[in-house]
Amino acid sequence: MSKLMSSYQIKNMELKNRIMMAPMCMFCAGEDGLATEWHLIHYATRAVGQVGLIMMEATGVESRGRISSRDLGLWRDEQIEGLGKIVKACHENGAKVGVQLAHAGRKSEVLTEPSIAPSPIRFSDTYRTPLEMTTKEIEEVKHAFRDAAGRADQAGYDVIELHAAHGYLISEFLSPLTNQRTDEYGGSLENRALFLREVLREVKTVWPASKPIIVRVSTEDYEEGGNHPEDLAQIMKLLKGEGIDLVNVSSGGVVNVSPKAYPGYQVKFAEVIKEVASIPVIAGGLIGSSQLAEEILHNDRADLIFVGRELLRNPYWTLQAAHELRDELLWPAQYERSRN
Ligand SMILES: Cc1cc2nc3c(=O)[nH]c(=O)nc-3n(C[C@H](O)[C@H](O)[C@H](O)COP(=O)(O)O)c2cc1C
Repeated sequence: MSKLMSSYQIKNMELKNRIMMAPMCMFCAGEDGLATEWHLIHYATRAVGQVGLIMMEATGVESRGRISSRDLGLWRDEQIEGLGKIVKACHENGAKVGVQLAHAGRKSEVLTEPSIAPSPIRFSDTYRTPLEMTTKEIEEVKHAFRDAAGRADQAGYDVIELHAAHGYLISEFLSPLTNQRTDEYGGSLENRALFLREVLREVKTVWPASKPIIVRVSTEDYEEGGNHPEDLAQIMKLLKGEGIDLVNVSSGGVVNVSPKAYPGYQVKFAEVIKEVASIPVIAGGLIGSSQLAEEILHNDRADLIFVGRELLRNPYWTLQAAHELRDELLWPAQYERSRN
């Protein structure tokens, strides 16, 4: 059997294969952050396509923490039911499901809400200059992550992912390019990691110990003076004891620079995190080849593979990959007659 199609257990979550659908904002929630029928069909289709773990898109923990006014949300109890239906539909089709809990920080484009960040530095000319967060606001946001995690548990999610990548709020605290605070949240690497440390502590007060927590990070800022993989590896090592079970390794988005991307371009960053922090990692980026995915796993460069756009193009990519790797895969019974 290929490594890609082998099962993977972390805490109480057993995945039937090593493929994770990457979180991808669909920007089509109701104005009030409610899930729609479209989300149900979109995610359940990938479950039918046999994806092992579906990581649902960035979901706002606060109304002012949305990227856009069409983001999903978990800042109100009314938002639990719709998401719970999606979780149930994915479970019925054999997938495990997570939700990415997010706060957009200075990259929020919801103009009816204030934009907040560790420091009052704007992302680009087209963004607002954010307000520097007060200690009270830091407390509020930590509690918002905690409350959203509690609602995620009620919705039945198997795992949560804290969005600490791409220049959104937690990522803004981690990077020296966006965090110029002079209090205990800024300065040294340890200080910049304090906000994430405290968010993890808050989340753990409500999120069951038996369920895993993933943290997604930007390992490379692609700008002088920014974070590099070694910095993120040190941060992950520092915070390992706070309950990070898996690191989803991404890059960029902190400043307005586009990296040169090629298949597997972030895998080398994942290797650094895995090696230095000794935490299992999820690697990806332009992966649409089953052979490349297999190489990464077999050479122990990563533990899981995330697949984004390829799964938007082809929700049945997992079936195709299994066929290419000559694996017997649980085929949806309803589609049995389409099997070779
Ligand atoms: C439409 C779209 C929406 C995305 N939304 C998110 C998101 O909500 N959270 C996140 O961490 N990354 C997001 N990303 C980044 C993806 O998770 C992934 O890292 C990126 O697309 C690279 O992987 P790929 O080459 O397999 O698509 C998004 C990407 C796309 C294309």
